[in-house]
Order: sequence, then structure tokens, then C-alpha cells
Amino acid sequence: MKNKKFISGFSRLNKEGKINLIAEWMDDPSFSVFIKSFWHGDEKTQKLLDEFSENTVSNFPFPFGVAPNFLINGKDYLVPMVIEESSVIAAAANSAKFWYDKGGFQAKILGTKKIGQVHFFWKGDVRKFDFAINDLKEKIHRETFHITANMRRRGGGILDIEIVDMTHSMPDYYQLKATFDTRDSMGANFINSCLEEFAFILKDFLSESDYFTGSEKDCHIIMSILSNYTPECLVSINLETEVENFRDIDNELTADQFVDKFEKAVRIAQADVHRATTHNKGIFNGIDAIALATGNDFRAIEACGHTYAARDGRYKSLTDVDISNGYFRYNLTLPLALGTVGGLTSLHPLAKVSLSMLGNPGAEELMMITASVGMANNFGALKSLVTKGIQKGHMKMHLMNILNHLGANESEKKQAFDYFKTRKVSFSGVQAFLEKIRVLPVNK
Ligand code: MEV
Repeated sequence: MKNKKFISGFSRLNKEGKINLIAEWMDDPSFSVFIKSFWHGDEKTQKLLDEFSENTVSNFPFPFGVAPNFLINGKDYLVPMVIEESSVIAAAANSAKFWYDKGGFQAKILGTKKIGQVHFFWKGDVRKFDFAINDLKEKIHRETFHITANMRRRGGGILDIEIVDMTHSMPDYYQLKATFDTRDSMGANFINSCLEEFAFILKDFLSESDYFTGSEKDCHIIMSILSNYTPECLVSINLETEVENFRDIDNELTADQFVDKFEKAVRIAQADVHRATTHNKGIFNGIDAIALATGNDFRAIEACGHTYAARDGRYKSLTDVDISNGYFRYNLTLPLALGTVGGLTSLHPLAKVSLSMLGNPGAEELMMITASVGMANNFGALKSLVTKGIQKGHMKMHLMNILNHLGANESEKKQAFDYFKTRKVSFSGVQAFLEKIRVLPVNK
């Protein structure tokens, strides 16, 4: 790499110009042809993809797979999943199949409230807000009528507004905290537009209102932004069956031994932060995959889920298990702020097709489907971990990645799959195997 120096005006270059600059920067004349080989064949679709982001030069394809046989609240689903990690879709599909004839996933929405905050600094007697809050609310509702009109027509809008005294954490720090119902949209744009307006209205209100005097008539607005922590936008999934139904789950464990190990695995994820992180990561394997497939914001979902997992001041498992009276009951409860309208959900052609595959659900139904997939992945992971371990199944899938990495052809792949059927898969093992068979006359 040569000529590394500050680049000004990169964003103003056209796509060709950007690609040329990168090729020069990388000192790689093949970059241009290579990166363009990932362009979409249809110009209109490519333009749409380019416009989702900035400085785009190409696409980064991820596998789009499908997990069948999800039975959720008695309804059948084919679940679209976008994920690069092997075994995740297989685990989701296996769990869905296992639970299909046991009643499937029982899902419940526990709330759909979203939260936004105007963070401000103010000097005054906070008790005055007790008297002023109704006038402030009325002014906010009235003066944001134009912004909330569409959302109100859909049955949503601003739910409540309060002033939160945060001076215990920082002198003079307050919040105007609002809750919203954003119906089938994730609502980030709606909430942020409302909040920026709330900040002006708050300033105006303080200066005009007779409740406040002197320095109380002004405030210092720091920022207005939604919170991605939505503990009241909550979904709960239950799996329940008789312990006896696990009798065939493993040829070395009885049903009782299996559920006992499973329960201990969950208790460990409740007790130990290192295990809890991995346990929850397994849940997000499924959740992120469907979030990506449906054009939802997986970063927001992850951030929220992990905060929720630490809501008691200690990070722990998002799932809980109860084994009593011959029954196995498994629960996952987590916040999921999802949308099925707006944003990428209705713009990205593959997000649109994913939603159509799911029967065009509303946000609440998508919350229930998504959490069920997270639950399926977690159940699959624990089932493997407490029985044969994950590496056996995982490495079989991983073998394909290693073979592709080493440029194996179809015949070499077939020979490798036969050879590694009864052997441990490792990168060096596969490399040595390929080297060995490549010198054989039959493979020349
Ligand atoms: C791997 O992506 C996910 C697991 O590690 C989850 C878990 O350990 O529960 C298998």
C-alpha cells in the first residue's frame, strides 16, 4: 500500500472515481473488476442498494436461508434468515421440528411502548413541574399535531410525557421523557422528529409559563434522541412439554438426565457472566438473522437485549427454565423493537420478500416470530452442548467453509466429506488431506 494520505472529497467522487481511488490506494489493479462483479445485474436495484448508505461501491452478499416448520401460536411459518455462520439455520430448523408436534412455540406480547428523551440542564424548583406538567403536555400535543397526524391515524402516537429529575447523577440534569406507540413501524424517525420538536416546545414553555421565574425560564438542551432500551416493548415465548418427551433426544442420556443437564446449563447462564454472554449470543444468532432478513435494525435489538439481560444490575441469561411435576417449561422474555413498515422493511426487495414469506405480519407478530427463532437457536445450542457438544455438527458445516477456503473442487469435496465422516475436522487436517489427494494421479 502506497500513497496513504488524507483524502478530501471522497464522498463527492462518483462511484467509478471512488473505485479507482481505492484500487490505487490498495495498489491492486484487479480491485475494480472484482468489486464490480458483486454489483446487482439490474441497474435500478443496484441504485436502490447504493442509496441505502453512503460511499457505496458494491454489495456484500450474505447467505439467505430458510428455516421451515416453525409452529408459533398454532400458525405455521417458513422463516427467512440471513446469516454467515454455519449451523445456525440448521439448529433453528431442528429445534422447530422437535417442538412442532409438542405444541410449538407459545408467544405473548407483554407491551409495545417505545421511549424517547430530551436531555436538558436546568436550574430551578423541580416541584413546579408537578403543577406545570399538564399545560406542558397539552402544548406538546397541540404543537406536534402535524408530526403525529399519520401515526395517530394508524392508532399510535405520543402516550405520555414526564419530567425526570436526574440531579442525583449530575447537578441540574433533567429529562423530558416520552413514551410512544409506533404501531407497525420501529418508529425511530417518528420518535426522533417528535423529540427534536419537544425540545423547542419545552424551551418556549419555560420562557412563557407563569409557573417559572428567573433562571427557571431557560434551559440548556443537550440532545433529543430515542432510547434503544425499550423494556416495555416486550415479548415472551414459552416451550412446554412432558419430560418423558425427551426420551429419544440422545442415545446416552435418559429424559430425566437430559432435562437435569439442561436445567443446570440454564442456571449456569444465570450465575456466570461469561456463560451468560455466550448463552445470549446464541439467542441473537437467530434473532439477528431474521432481523437482517426483514430489514430491521439488529444493532438496536442487540443493544436493547443485552441491557435487558443486565436489568437487575447483573448480566444474566435471557431464558429461564422450570422442571417440575414431570413437565419441562422453558421461557424467553426480551424486548424487541421491530418494524414491518417504514425504513428498509418496505424498501429492500429481499426484506419485502422475507415479510411476504412470513405472511406480511404486523410488528407484534414479527416480535413473536423473531423471539421464537431466538428461542429455537438457544434450545438447539443447549441441546447440543449438554449432549454431543457443538463441534461435531458445527465442524461438519465448517468443513465446507474450509474446503472452499482451500479452493477444493467438487470431487475433492466429496472425498473430504467421506474421509472426515469419522474424523475430527481441523483446518490443518483438511489442508493435509487435500495435499495428499492432490498428488494422486486420479486427481490430477
Ligand atoms: C455459537 O454461535 C452459539 C453458541 O455458542 C451458543 C451457546 O453456547 O449457547 C453455541
